[in-house]
Amino acid sequence: MHYILTKDFPRHVGEEVTIKGWLYNKRSSGPIAFLEIRDGYRWTQAVAAKASLSPDVWERVEKVTQESAVEITGTVAKHPKKDNVFELQVKDLKILQLSENYPIALKDHGPDFLLENRHLWLRSKRQWAILKIRDAIITAMNQYLHQEDFIKVDSPIFTPNACEGTSTLFAVPYFDLGSAYLSQSGQLYIEAAIASVGRCYDFGPVFRAEKSKTKRHLTEFWMMDAEAAFFDHEDNIRVQEGLVRHIVRYCLEHCQEEFTILERNVESLKKVDAPFTRYTYEEAIIKLNQNGSDIKFGEDLGNDDEGILTKDSVVPVFIEKWPKSIKPFYMKTDPTNPERVFNDDLIAPENGGEIIGGSQREESVDILIERIKNEGLNMADYEWYLDTRRFGGVPHSGFGLGLERVVRWISGTEHIRECITFPRTIGRLKP
Ligand code: 4AD
Ligand code: MG
Repeated sequence: MHYILTKDFPRHVGEEVTIKGWLYNKRSSGPIAFLEIRDGYRWTQAVAAKASLSPDVWERVEKVTQESAVEITGTVAKHPKKDNVFELQVKDLKILQLSENYPIALKDHGPDFLLENRHLWLRSKRQWAILKIRDAIITAMNQYLHQEDFIKVDSPIFTPNACEGTSTLFAVPYFDLGSAYLSQSGQLYIEAAIASVGRCYDFGPVFRAEKSKTKRHLTEFWMMDAEAAFFDHEDNIRVQEGLVRHIVRYCLEHCQEEFTILERNVESLKKVDAPFTRYTYEEAIIKLNQNGSDIKFGEDLGNDDEGILTKDSVVPVFIEKWPKSIKPFYMKTDPTNPERVFNDDLIAPENGGEIIGGSQREESVDILIERIKNEGLNMADYEWYLDTRRFGGVPHSGFGLGLERVVRWISGTEHIRECITFPRTIGRLKP
């Protein structure tokens, strides 16, 4: 390799090296220019002194513009005043591509302009930090799940049937077979796979034709569905708690610089430890009514309700055992109270909203048939799913984690559209 990454500067102090990257910013004071270079790993200062450069190199230093691609050779030096900061004393600078009229200035722009230029906006420090945190969350998630003996199996995106109700399905023409629907969750498929591998998960994009224009909804987002044979509701809660705790710890350990860039106060994250707070749905409704919400039993929680329930909790809050009437067909009916199901929503503190939805699954073919009918779903589409119960059906449970919701909470980002590389919402399909 004939160039090095700036993150490796500490190992190269005093050596002459070459780096490649982009000019983020330039400040000049007379015969000295300070070039801020982004190479994907760090933002590094390269100092160019006219006196020690040949005239043609100095000319290029003067000419180089914001976001030009550059190759710079120089000597790595410790910053004269700051610990753990390194810079490059420039000997040579090549302009690999001269960028002209870069549209994003280093000042505040409105969200529409930035979204329109999302392909360039990604280069900002803030977006870099969010992308890195997103990656850390994925790494932590894979780590924890394997540690708990889950393997990744994945599920299809083109599907013939709904998982989460028919109102948010995206249909696409599918040759002579009519319509396919973009998957809302791979859950039903990984439920089939547990009879092969015991515990498994999928991770991929899912689609919801959500009409909601909120700071928490995307029409395309990434979901991790996990499923485990022989797990009951309590086992399910335990894995969710362990997973979220592990993700938070991993980010605290690996993303310090990112949190600093985002000005994310991590004191609250440090307190995220098991056990999480738990309320039954019924308890939640009582608490909400006592705290000014006019929610009625049998209604879904709104944003404000989630805010009230998490206000006094430093740890995420489980809301469990919801009324059957407002939850999907596959959730297991509580034998002690047939009006409710063994499920949970996990709400993150600090206005994080719902990050996980999970449940023990119904094993009874008869109850499933009745519920599929009641939801007005086409029975023929679910015959294969019923087979998973007919042939060696066992108690099992699982959950789905919305990646961007978790990124939003952990990074302390206001709007979910910054938590995915290229956001898709009702009003946005570009770039
Ligand atoms: O609660 P949901 O709808 O659950 C399921 O889809 C189950 N089949 C998952 C399972 O049991 N395997 O979605 C799971 C999570 C939510 O808790 C939320 O974090 C996220 O997906 N989510 C969204 N994220 C962004 N934009 C949207 N429109 C979302 N809808 C759900
Ligand atoms: Mg949900």
